[in-house]
Parts: sequence; C-alpha cells; structure tokens
Amino acid sequence: MVVLITGASAGIGSALAVELAPRGAKLVLSARRLERLEELNKRLGGGHLCVRADVSRREDCEALVAQAVERFGRLDTLVCNAGFGILRKVHETTPQQADEIFRTNVFGTLDCVRAAVPHMLKQEPRPWRGQIVIVSSAVARRAIPLFGAYSATKAAQLSLAEAMRVELRPLGIAVTSVHPIGTDTEFGEAANARAGGGRVARIPGEVRQTAQQVARKIARAMEQPVPEVWPFRPSRWALVAAALAPRVVDRMLAKRVRVEGTNDADHAGA
Ligand SMILES: NC(=O)c1ccc[n+]([C@@H]2O[C@H](COP(=O)([O-])OP(=O)(O)OC[C@H]3O[C@@H](n4cnc5c(N)ncnc54)[C@H](OP(=O)(O)O)[C@@H]3O)[C@@H](O)[C@H]2O)c1
Repeated sequence: MVVLITGASAGIGSALAVELAPRGAKLVLSARRLERLEELNKRLGGGHLCVRADVSRREDCEALVAQAVERFGRLDTLVCNAGFGILRKVHETTPQQADEIFRTNVFGTLDCVRAAVPHMLKQEPRPWRGQIVIVSSAVARRAIPLFGAYSATKAAQLSLAEAMRVELRPLGIAVTSVHPIGTDTEFGEAANARAGGGRVARIPGEVRQTAQQVARKIARAMEQPVPEVWPFRPSRWALVAAALAPRVVDRMLAKRVRVEGTNDADHAGA
C-alpha cells in the first residue's frame, strides 16, 4: 500500500507514518522541513520517499503526487493532513493571514486531491482504487472563538469531503474526513506564533488526545474505509447536540475564552 502523507514532519502526520510503516506501507513523507522527514525516514528503517513540498503552492502539490507515482508506480491513499491554526479574532485576521490559511488548509487539500484522483482512477480496484483521507477537525462542526478563520478552513475541508464521498464512491475511491479534538502536537506553538492577543483557557479536566491515539484511528479507517473518523467519539454526539442549541453553546464558549489579555494560548479543541 502506497500512502502519501502531507504534514509528516510533526504531530499527527508523523505519528501516522510511525503507525503505518510497521504494517508494510510504502510512505511518501511530505512537508516543508525536509531534514525532519529524512530523520523520520531513518527512524522507520529507510526506503520511504521524502519530498519537500509547500501545499500552499499548487505546483508543489502537483510535483509531490507526480514524484510519488513515479517512485512507487501507484498511490493508494492520499492523506491531506498539512495545516495550521491562527489564534486571532475574525475581524483582526489580516488579509495575508486569511490568504495563507485558506491556501494551505483548503486549497492545499484541493490541489493534492486534483493531482491524485486521475492516478487513482487508473488503478485496479482492491476493492477500492484509492482512498482520500482529509484531516479536518471537530471545529468543522462548530467554530470556536479566536479560531474563526481556522474553523472556517476545517468546515470547508469537511464540505469538500462530504461532496467527494458521494461523487467518487461509484468510481471506486473512498473518502474519509477526520475530526480530532485538541491533540498534543506542535499545533499550539504554530497558532501562538500568529496570535493576535487573547487566550483560550483550558477547562480543568478537558479531554485531550495524543497524536498516536489519533493516528491509530486513522490507520484503522484505512484498513476499513468509513465516511468520518472521530478519534474521541463523544465529541461527535456532543456536536450533534450543540447544533440544536447554539445559544447555550455560545454561552459556554464565552466563559472559556478570554479575548483580552496575554498572547499565550493553550489551544482548546482545535
Ligand atoms: N493538534 C490539534 O489540536 C488538532 C485538532 C484537530 C485537527 N488538527 C489538524 O491536524 C492536522 C495536523 O496538525 P498537527 O496537530 O499535527 O500540527 P503540527 O504538529 O503543527 O503539524 C503540522 C504539519 O503540517 C505541516 N505544514 C504546515 N503548513 C504547511 C505547508 N504550507 N505545506 C506543507 N506542510 C505544511 C507541518 O510541516 P512543515 O512545517 O515542516 O511544513 C507539520 O508537519 C492539521 O490539519 C490540523 O488542523 C489538529
């Protein structure tokens, strides 16, 4: 099985590589920090392909998929995982930041998908011709304050996944979206680096997950494709209920978010 993972230099993407390598997957590890990918490849015993690519650049996405197919002759699973957050109120998000986050999280996903699907369609079904896994977030179903632009990109990824799931199924391609809650990775540092003031307080006892827990659930959905993966299952049902009571959820979120104050953020449920 040939699996291409974007954003494999850290967090969930890196943990997924660690999960898949012992199962015999041939991996295409991609991100901007090539040295990290090469280190990971070494840790996994070598033999995987490392490609430096910035998914916010269409030509990088196209070259990435082309290199994967050239090296391994096929592409079974594309994992669109590369992404980042911005800790900023919506109206204070700069045009450059909005452009950057949509370019990476949304257009990066679309450009990789567009490049990968024609190759998958040429493959024999076993039983699927291929699979697309999109790492969205729990916030795709309910935006959280101070992460408005980020939440919008995750909702956009979910919309793409939902439409593609129906469009591509008859053509033999499975589509799965993944919706983690707050996960301990480098995500918080990256979001803080772009912070515009304010702080998302952690709720005492708040559930968080490790990248390994999320990766394990994604790996399972590759063995047996499912429409959506909710690595922390109760969040799925909580968000269904939240959709029925937006005012209550607004109040709960208002309590947990202090919009004035320090620049440091414990990202919550991103
Ligand atoms: N951590 C959470 O709480 C959480 C919750 C829900 C969903 N998620 C989603 O999970 C995914 C992975 O995030 P993570 O938590 O693992 O964060 P992370 O530890 O910061 O890893 C992010 C990865 O994305 C890559 N990346 C960022 N911008 C990129 C670009 N323009 N081109 C190529 N690669 C890029 C980074 O690599 P380079 O910097 O080397 O390029 C890195 O490998 C993201 O889509 C995030 O939205 C995270």
